[in-house]
Amino acid sequence: MIGYQFMGKAHSHAYRDLPFFFDLNYQPVQQAIAGRNEQAVKVAADKMGYASYETDWRKLIERDDIDLIDIVTPNNTHTEMAIAALEAGKHVLCEKPIALSLLDAERMLEAAKKSGAVHMVSHNYRFAPAVQFAKKLINEGRLGKIYHVRAQYLQDFVMDPSFPLVWRLKKEVTGSGALGDIGAHIIDLARFLVGEIREVNGMLETFIKERPSGEMSGGLSSTTSEAEQMGEVTVDDAAIFMSRFENGALGTFEATRFAGGNRNGNRFEINGEKGSIRWDLENMNNLEVFFADDEEGLQGFRTINVTEESHPYMSNYWPAGHIIGYEHTFLNLFSELMKGIEKGYSPEPNFEDGAKNQAVLEAIQLSAESRQWVDIKHLREETRKKL
Ligand SMILES: NC(=O)c1ccc[n+]([C@@H]2O[C@H](COP(=O)([O-])OP(=O)(O)OC[C@H]3O[C@@H](n4cnc5c(N)ncnc54)[C@H](O)[C@@H]3O)[C@@H](O)[C@H]2O)c1
Repeated sequence: MIGYQFMGKAHSHAYRDLPFFFDLNYQPVQQAIAGRNEQAVKVAADKMGYASYETDWRKLIERDDIDLIDIVTPNNTHTEMAIAALEAGKHVLCEKPIALSLLDAERMLEAAKKSGAVHMVSHNYRFAPAVQFAKKLINEGRLGKIYHVRAQYLQDFVMDPSFPLVWRLKKEVTGSGALGDIGAHIIDLARFLVGEIREVNGMLETFIKERPSGEMSGGLSSTTSEAEQMGEVTVDDAAIFMSRFENGALGTFEATRFAGGNRNGNRFEINGEKGSIRWDLENMNNLEVFFADDEEGLQGFRTINVTEESHPYMSNYWPAGHIIGYEHTFLNLFSELMKGIEKGYSPEPNFEDGAKNQAVLEAIQLSAESRQWVDIKHLREETRKKL
């Protein structure tokens, strides 16, 4: 694993717990972790259960006792690390968004195809049992033709103007702001549940344009540098966009870090000709469903606690009603990754999904600049010509 803070903790926890909950033929062995600061990476290796550490990620890739490279560093490092790992024949799990630009994402996809290695993107929210169950209902036709997807990812952790200029607010490190950080997740959920997006129209806004310097310090916390030098925020604080899907559905999306009181409000509602579903991460074990063929007088949204043994992934955990949490979405994702490595295929979401997601992100940025609709397929075709 390269990197060891917020996602480093989430992924390491999932590697440790995976053999405990899932009976798999292939199980992860936490062989080594890489970080630039020897003191800090040593502490992380001990705490998170890695047998060894490296202070240069390239050394990790050279090692022949490592099969899988897990990239949990800021976005500007993903492309170089993933391509180097794939060229060395390693399997790769990469955090989202996979790149800073669509061209880089396409380069990563090409490297993945050439390598024959297994590749996956860490869009963990797909792996909430309630989201997988929603997908099952949609696939079974329980909602019929899909008309609307309405998705929001609402946070508020940067609202205080004294929140420092961390890597998440610098374009050269992160690519985009709320758009790529949390918008990427709802784009993935919409693609997973409803299908491919044909075109988008979006707007971006940066409410606080200057902040004091500082660093992320674990989770979504930060520390301000003593110098307190002010610097320019170069990414969006909020992104709002609408889309048309290939299958005719309409999408409305909102990704913002300025929705006060919403700590991690990742929500969607999908309306189809025969029913609707609603989900909210902060109440992640529940799925609200409405079916138009329910008896008249008893119609309305009802709540299913998606914790029955028959529900996706739940037979690995506890008896019905004994809920699971955020961290288990990573275990579920990793169980698919281990099966992929065992059997030699790249489970979805893989780098193809990563590139499609990046195309939507880039299209929204282009749309916001030009105030025009942007066609996703055309953008990908034009970008792939530059490969
Ligand atoms: N799937 C999710 O829900 C989710 C949530 C948060 C973040 N992420 C993604 O995970 C990635 C990491 O985010 P985070 O919140 O863990 O960040 P973070 O700031 O908490 O941790 C980043 C880690 O990368 C290390 N690092 C930075 N540059 C490095 C380099 N050049 N070489 C080696 N190590 C380096 C840092 O020292 C730190 O350990 C990002 O791509 C982010 O978008 C995903």
